[in-house]
Amino acid sequence: MRTGSHLPLLFSLPAYAWAAPQEDIEHRIDALLKRMTLEEKLGQMSQSTDLAAPITDKIKQQIRAGRWGSFLNAGGPADRAEAQRIAMRETRLGIPLIFGRDVIHGYRTIFPIPLGQSATWDEDLISQAAREAALEATAEGIHWTFAPMIDICRDPRWGRVAESLGEDPYLTSVLGAAMVRGFQGDSLNRADSLAACAKHYAGYGAAEGGRDYNSAWIPEILLRDVYLRPFRAARDAGVATFMTAFNTLNAIPATGNRFLLRDILRSEWKFDGAVVSDYQAIRELTAHGYATGPPDAARKALLAGVDLEMVSTTYFDHLKALLQANLIDMREVDEAVRNILRLKFRLGLFDGRRPAAKPGIAALPAAERLATESMVLLKNAGGLLPLKKTIAKLAVIGPLADSPPDQMGTWAMDGNPRDVRTPLAAFREMLGNDRVVYASVLKNSRDMSTAAFAQALRLSAQSDAVVLFLGEDATMSGEARSRAFLGLPGSQEQLVDQLASTGKPLIAVIMAGRPLTFHRTAEKLGAILYAWHPGTMGGPAIAHLIFGDSVPSGKLPISFPRSVGQVPIYYAHLSTGRPPGPNDLGTPMGTPENPKDYTSRYIDLDFTPEYPFGYGLSYTTFRYSATRVSAPALDSSGSIEISADVSNTGGRPADEIVELYVSGPAGGSVARPVRELKGFKRVHLAPGETKAVTFSIRRSNLAFYNNRMEFSAESGRYRAWLAPDSTRGTPVDFVLK
Ligand code: NOJ
Repeated sequence: MRTGSHLPLLFSLPAYAWAAPQEDIEHRIDALLKRMTLEEKLGQMSQSTDLAAPITDKIKQQIRAGRWGSFLNAGGPADRAEAQRIAMRETRLGIPLIFGRDVIHGYRTIFPIPLGQSATWDEDLISQAAREAALEATAEGIHWTFAPMIDICRDPRWGRVAESLGEDPYLTSVLGAAMVRGFQGDSLNRADSLAACAKHYAGYGAAEGGRDYNSAWIPEILLRDVYLRPFRAARDAGVATFMTAFNTLNAIPATGNRFLLRDILRSEWKFDGAVVSDYQAIRELTAHGYATGPPDAARKALLAGVDLEMVSTTYFDHLKALLQANLIDMREVDEAVRNILRLKFRLGLFDGRRPAAKPGIAALPAAERLATESMVLLKNAGGLLPLKKTIAKLAVIGPLADSPPDQMGTWAMDGNPRDVRTPLAAFREMLGNDRVVYASVLKNSRDMSTAAFAQALRLSAQSDAVVLFLGEDATMSGEARSRAFLGLPGSQEQLVDQLASTGKPLIAVIMAGRPLTFHRTAEKLGAILYAWHPGTMGGPAIAHLIFGDSVPSGKLPISFPRSVGQVPIYYAHLSTGRPPGPNDLGTPMGTPENPKDYTSRYIDLDFTPEYPFGYGLSYTTFRYSATRVSAPALDSSGSIEISADVSNTGGRPADEIVELYVSGPAGGSVARPVRELKGFKRVHLAPGETKAVTFSIRRSNLAFYNNRMEFSAESGRYRAWLAPDSTRGTPVDFVLK
């Protein structure tokens, strides 16, 4: 084992090839690797959270010794600057540190949770939000965010569905790539570029039972066709890093999974960025029963292709002995270090990168727009919304109407609750204090008490309309926040029952980190606006929507079940041999003795979702007509156009998200989903206006994994829809030759 010499402090960095910016990055890495001791290499492969403010002498000493190559979620801007000064000035080789952080949906300015962002279907705006987050974070010395999370999630019990972009691989691919572009900007080495991280690779969103960290079983065809697609898209968008997942995937932990990391990510996809483990996930290989202890865990993770260990220290503690015992090879260590150094070079860290300049407040308008577009109007009986601003008195009820931390949602550690503009404040600003009466009634969404119901009834009686804030506290979704029940927690349903009895117009704004089930409650509400956890500017966004200054345009990025018993429920399922038909709708269908007919459904609940994927209402109405295809057949070289006329048949100018779905081929080598999203467009239509909306489909858009795991498009008959959601639209057929 060769180790470098222990020279005293080195200030004349430009003398070395790795310090010369004009040199090719791989040469600079070669030059550096030759000089590094094994300890320095292992230090680069280690990431710590331990950067307390102010930095302790112990940590300073460790940085000087090259013990850590990176820190996560640690220290303030000044601590990071000081740690970086030590790393670059007081270590033997001057290798800079990299500072990672969970900048998930904003930094100081908090945007809607990712699931809410996904409901906008707005690539450009989502990219802009990520850019704003990067500007704010890089100004405080952050280089790397652990986002986007692009785990496909078809189970709302899983708390991290809040961080996901929903159930669909196409939508997640497009929006996840937009986030990558936004975070990273034009070039990684700019002062305001934030390296992105595609996580959690892979299968984390398929945790059995929706229980966090649980095993995932995903057949390879489904893995490739659904779960890996967004990761491939992130890689194609140039994502700088990947994070391995906590879960086992088909009995092999993702953090020790050679198939995922070497065969697919490195060999098939030619990814040359860095791979970081999730938090202590290497150490956890032992708990999975996949490693006999920390040394074995270190070996398996390294051999599988994990470059950087987050928080646990099995690499630093054991790789040296494993090398001495010839259980691993220096080549594997060097390869990991090379990947990490490449990231640091790409970020310009060796070349005098400084924190970016402090951005202005440009993020707030984007945050409000994104919040506005994220909200999904689920119900609007009799056109109850929008309310008129001439209203004499508005009752605002519920703790979530005025709770900054809950409005920010999960992963908002840099958000400042004092910046948050709540709906209550926004209503008061809009209508004046005298016209808004408020009662929180409950301490938080989980509160079981009914003591203040009388107050809510009193306020309602004095008012012309009631806006009731329902949902989940921020702490109920996110990591380790799986739920077995998806209903409204606490006494919220009873509160709805009581308020419904007053006969006042009742509007619910639901803030939540996941799809909730509220089937019975929905019937008692006049209107329902699903607001997710909308972030800093959620309040004004809600007030403007409720009073018609803006028009809802969000569409669901995930199916809403009627009951937790239907989970997993998603639109792009395969057909059974006995698909239920339109006559099988309704509850209950027959009896246990006589289930009416033998189709695939439930005897005690409708088989359809409460609200399907892609669904969302507007204050106007849209009509889709004249769906057409440009030719009966698509040959292998060309493309085919699918069009429809979309008309605004209501009274307000509004945006409509037009969705393109395709199914097929009939009779291919494998059964294919009943529909798959293949495109979407946001169109703006004035009242009475009609626009032809056209999508172009090429052969490559129809490719899928076949029975031999080859990605190809098979010839046959395909069907396409242009539709307002995943259940509607008039199909047209075409043939792929
Ligand atoms: C664990 C989470 O799974 C991951 O998403 C996050 O980035 C890391 N912790 C760091 O906080």
